[in-house]
Amino acid sequence: MSWASICWHYLLALRIEVSLLKDESNNVAAWREGRVDKILKHVDSTVKSVRTIINNLRPAVLDLGLVPSLEWQARDFERRNGIWCEFHTTDENLSLDDEPSTVLFRVLQETLTNVVRHAKATHVRIDLSTEANRLVLRVSDNGVGLPKVRNRKVKSFGLAGIRERISMLHGEFSIESSDAGTTLIFVIPYGQPQDLFDDHPEMA
Ligand SMILES: Nc1ncnc2c1ncn2[C@@H]1O[C@H](COP(=O)(O)OP(=O)(O)OP(=O)(O)O)[C@@H](O)[C@H]1O
Ligand SMILES: [Mg+2]
Repeated sequence: MSWASICWHYLLALRIEVSLLKDESNNVAAWREGRVDKILKHVDSTVKSVRTIINNLRPAVLDLGLVPSLEWQARDFERRNGIWCEFHTTDENLSLDDEPSTVLFRVLQETLTNVVRHAKATHVRIDLSTEANRLVLRVSDNGVGLPKVRNRKVKSFGLAGIRERISMLHGEFSIESSDAGTTLIFVIPYGQPQDLFDDHPEMA
């Protein structure tokens, strides 16, 4: 089933639950029976599905190429939030397929949203580099760092979604955090492994 139809089903379920609640609004027992919890569950699932749909949409700015589009995002972030944001790359001409490019674009978006919401940072540095068969995206902020005790918020989808999307690309995701700030590191495979050409000389 597609994400859009999953979302559609959650919305239908939500619609049914809300109309039942309306009918039974005088009946306090309905609340006790967990109807409200059920509705909240559907709302959470819908939020998650809509987020996935948006994440999978390819942003038009990627037409410019991955490096200019990430650079554009850094400028846009700086302009909107007044937080100094540097972008550096070792490879201006880097070329990557649409799918991993979309993932990196969305992952940076999510990471920068977290900086605005949680970090209290005044400076962000983004580094994009390629080495051997790896592409590395590092995003560092000089904010307060991740909370020492686990966040009480039950539903946090951002970092979990990032982890899922990076692992779908067979990549790795790690976080370094201290009182001096947070660094997120994304590593994904890049380029064609040489042994593939060795096994299939016609592809070289
Ligand atoms: N750059 C950051 N600096 C400080 N804390 C951060 C940073 N990024 C994430 N966090 C912490 O990690 C938690 C989890 O982040 P995550 O993006 O998963 O959830 P969220 O932002 O709280 O909610 P949402 O589901 O809307 O993204 C945040 O609540 C916040 O406490
Ligand atoms: Mg978040």
